Amino acid sequence: MCQNNNSSIETPKKRVLSCIQPSGMLTLGNYLGALKNFAAMGKDPEFECIYAVADLHAITVRQDPKEFRARILSTYALLLSIGLDPQKAIIFIQSHVPEHTQLSWVLSCYTQFGEMSRMTQFKDKSKKRPENVNVGLFSYPDLMAADILLYNPDYVPVGEDQKQHVEITRDIAARFNGIYGDVFKMPEAYIPKVGARVMSLQDPQKKMSKSDENPNAYIGILDKPEEIMRKMKRAVTDSQSTVEVGEGRYGINNLIGIYGTITGKTADEVKKEFEGRGYGDFKAAVGEAVAEELRPIRENYERFISDKGELERLYRAGDEMAEHLARRTLRKVMKKVGFIGF
Ligand code: TYM
Repeated sequence: MCQNNNSSIETPKKRVLSCIQPSGMLTLGNYLGALKNFAAMGKDPEFECIYAVADLHAITVRQDPKEFRARILSTYALLLSIGLDPQKAIIFIQSHVPEHTQLSWVLSCYTQFGEMSRMTQFKDKSKKRPENVNVGLFSYPDLMAADILLYNPDYVPVGEDQKQHVEITRDIAARFNGIYGDVFKMPEAYIPKVGARVMSLQDPQKKMSKSDENPNAYIGILDKPEEIMRKMKRAVTDSQSTVEVGEGRYGINNLIGIYGTITGKTADEVKKEFEGRGYGDFKAAVGEAVAEELRPIRENYERFISDKGELERLYRAGDEMAEHLARRTLRKVMKKVGFIGF
């Protein structure tokens, strides 16, 4: 985890890279854990940002082709809707830049089966759906490592659940550099202090996830204010009544985390604000804060998604800029390993 305070004019811009899967409705978890940082870093002149829709990652789960097409485009539109300017950030679609899969293969030959077997996300996901434990699900971190290392970023903004994947990326990069010299830059995970792990509203010991069967468990980024208020009202809390962080108070801790991340208030400030007031008041305040935060995103989204031609023009431009950078790194890698003609 890192915090960047360097604002000297002479320092070259720090590069930021991250991706998001187009699998299902993106949630408040994706927003607070990652997208909010994508937007903040995208607006900060200190950073140069590269973001992608990780569509290749999404096929570790069977996708209906028609729905998948729509979701790739809507995820791209969402990246624009959080306030990213495609003139300043490179925003592209992963499958349009074939260097990602090419580098992924090379990296897989520098990754040990044993270290990959330790990935907790693989273990969790293969337990959850034993009927389709495909090799792609297992080798997924190599594709993610390729996404990152192709662009030599300084920072990778992600939620807590992706930290292990950034760590294995660093291990693979260090191993490769150890053999061939300094080919890859060491990326650092950039994880928010709060909001890094937003929990389910119905089972707050579980991560908030877009793949949850119960739609009351998560807030979609595009949910309408009424829906947000309704889901918040139903959020599981506990039998106590004080709005304060406590051991084992998973539901309340989660709501305080959400409210604090959006309003910028500390847990102590939240406690003071709701002293002597019940959970009803608190949940309504969290609901309102979330609805207000997401309102401009939903409005921007309506605008972007209604112009498919413009979306295509934007992603084509983003793809081209990304490929230009990716090709350079891939060439270097291929030459180092000894392939000819690069
Ligand atoms: P994905 O698509 O599952 O999630 C996108 C981002 O949202 C964060 N996130 C959360 N943060 C807080 N609380 C939650 N409940 C929550 N749920 C999701 C994730 O940590 C992530 O940052 N493998 C990645 C996508 C990826 C990627 C990359 C990321 C592909 N290539 C290269 C960074 C760099 C994934 O599946 O995230």
